[in-house]
Amino acid sequence: MCGIIGYIGERNCIPILISGLKRLEYRGYDSAGIGVLSDAESVIVKKPGKVSSLEEKVELLNLSSNVGIGHTRWATHGLPNEINAHPHSNQNGTISLIHNGIIENYQTLKKGLQKLGYNFISETDSEVLPHLIDNFISRGHSLLKSVRLALSEVEGTYGIAVIYSGEPDKIVVARKGSPLIIGIGSDENFVASDVSAILAHTKQVVYLEDNEIAEVFRDHFNAKTISDDEIEKEVHEISMSLEEIDKGGYPHFMLKEIMEQPESVRNSMRGRILLEEGNVKLGGLAEVADRLAKSKRIIISACGTSWHAGLVGEYMIEQYAKIPTEVEYASEFRYRNPIINPDDSVFFISQSGETADTLAALKEAKNNGALALGICNVVGSSIARESIAGVYTHAGPEIGVASTKAFTSQLVVLALITLLISRKRGMSLEEGKKIAEELNSIPEKINLILSKNDEIKNIAEKYCNVKNFLYLGRGYNFPVALEGALKLKEISYIHAEGYPAAEMKHGPIALIDDNMPVVFIAPKDSIYDKVISNIEEVRARGGNIIAIVTEKDENMNRLVDHSIKIPDTIPMLMPILASIPLQLLAYHIAVKKGLNVDQPRNLAKSVTVE
Ligand code: G6P
Repeated sequence: MCGIIGYIGERNCIPILISGLKRLEYRGYDSAGIGVLSDAESVIVKKPGKVSSLEEKVELLNLSSNVGIGHTRWATHGLPNEINAHPHSNQNGTISLIHNGIIENYQTLKKGLQKLGYNFISETDSEVLPHLIDNFISRGHSLLKSVRLALSEVEGTYGIAVIYSGEPDKIVVARKGSPLIIGIGSDENFVASDVSAILAHTKQVVYLEDNEIAEVFRDHFNAKTISDDEIEKEVHEISMSLEEIDKGGYPHFMLKEIMEQPESVRNSMRGRILLEEGNVKLGGLAEVADRLAKSKRIIISACGTSWHAGLVGEYMIEQYAKIPTEVEYASEFRYRNPIINPDDSVFFISQSGETADTLAALKEAKNNGALALGICNVVGSSIARESIAGVYTHAGPEIGVASTKAFTSQLVVLALITLLISRKRGMSLEEGKKIAEELNSIPEKINLILSKNDEIKNIAEKYCNVKNFLYLGRGYNFPVALEGALKLKEISYIHAEGYPAAEMKHGPIALIDDNMPVVFIAPKDSIYDKVISNIEEVRARGGNIIAIVTEKDENMNRLVDHSIKIPDTIPMLMPILASIPLQLLAYHIAVKKGLNVDQPRNLAKSVTVE
């Protein structure tokens, strides 16, 4: 969601803040702003739109400062305009504050502050914070104590950074439900919502936990809990390099990330497959593997693309491990008082590891005594740290808002987990070996699919002006249909729906005419003939058909307008392969339409608010 960066040290903070904001822009990007202390005076500069517009405005001001904070916003309360952009300030402008998250009781707090004479100028929930802090400072408290007292009145979530001209030697940061890290430099320190913002300067970071607050000085920091208890914080070393989060010569992060998939899925499997034993080794699950295999039920909870991965996981686990499995949107799971038993295992899948609904659902499952497990991409993220145990997907940093390589890595990890549980529950060595070997061959097969990029681009260009798309698949490929439709919707703004192919005749068939492209995921598997019948039904109504088929399927050409051939594999792994042409199809359609594929409108990479 929104992004936070802050700097305190001997250098001029302006270029550090701007470059940090540019790195964070993928998280939220409808407006941006910085707040600095220049000669102990507070200066705030804000601008709607991209960080580059803010940069132009800042350059004209010729500012210089050794301490400052910056924010890129994804609007929740109030339009994305200059007034609603962060930093927000108190009335006399001495405090600058940036906030990620949502203050749920802001209306109540606002009314109370208005009665005390505080004027509000923005429509945001965040603006209550500087006024609340001001109210405590005016009663003689220090900045740290005032922030602490203010936050004790707040309901909701926050990651905040505050500077105050009365105490210009520090940045105060605090966290509850929205990530906040401190980057440790030499005679300089940083704060950020995401390591990518500060990786150019330091790899030493401290993760604040929920309900923690810290004063960050040029040469040290002090951390406490919000209730004022002293705490010791550990410094972590980040292994990710700056090159890993750059575009590497591709026009968009999304294309780079699609093209990286042979390597990213290999990284998800690296050191984990035991070919001879037909088994896998997952260090993160070692201590809980027996309990997991004895689960009476498995629940998978996630949002967006990660939820689609969960659906594929359900098919895998039920087919091989024979444990009843349910998949549920985290946002539903957390609020409907789900029945969770101590002999249930619940997987939470999240690329970012910060999605607010998934994190809250995880806490709910933990409180109910379930074995709460994480499948995350971002190392050290909140979900990874809150889980009892888990598996990292190791797909590498994903910057494009529409998830691609993180999805295929989630599928790989789910396959590894399925193999682990199934072998403990009686799967034969032979069957285990077959799955392990198939997994091993996946990166090469992905390479073959990626070599068809131009072919897919040609197909995409024919369909960039249509208004609707339908995606159909059955069995393991039904979630692929959902994911294909989501990718297209997210980045091309074309309305697209995914359906189980047989459900088409219960509604969507009414929409089919010669303006409706229908994408079928139709590999040669046990339900191939049934999918062919569905294809015939679309053909009979004049729909344009794009089919994802397996090599050697010569039959399909006569039935469809375009077929994209992909290598064959076992059904449980087919979604890994079949989703890739759909990622490319969506990508090329969006590029042809001239859209910003990496930062589609209204979306955010990491949704840290409900
Ligand atoms: C946002 C992103 C999606 C992502 C979803 C869940 O909506 O735009 O790409 O699938 O959040 O995110 P997570 O980080 O939990 O996988």
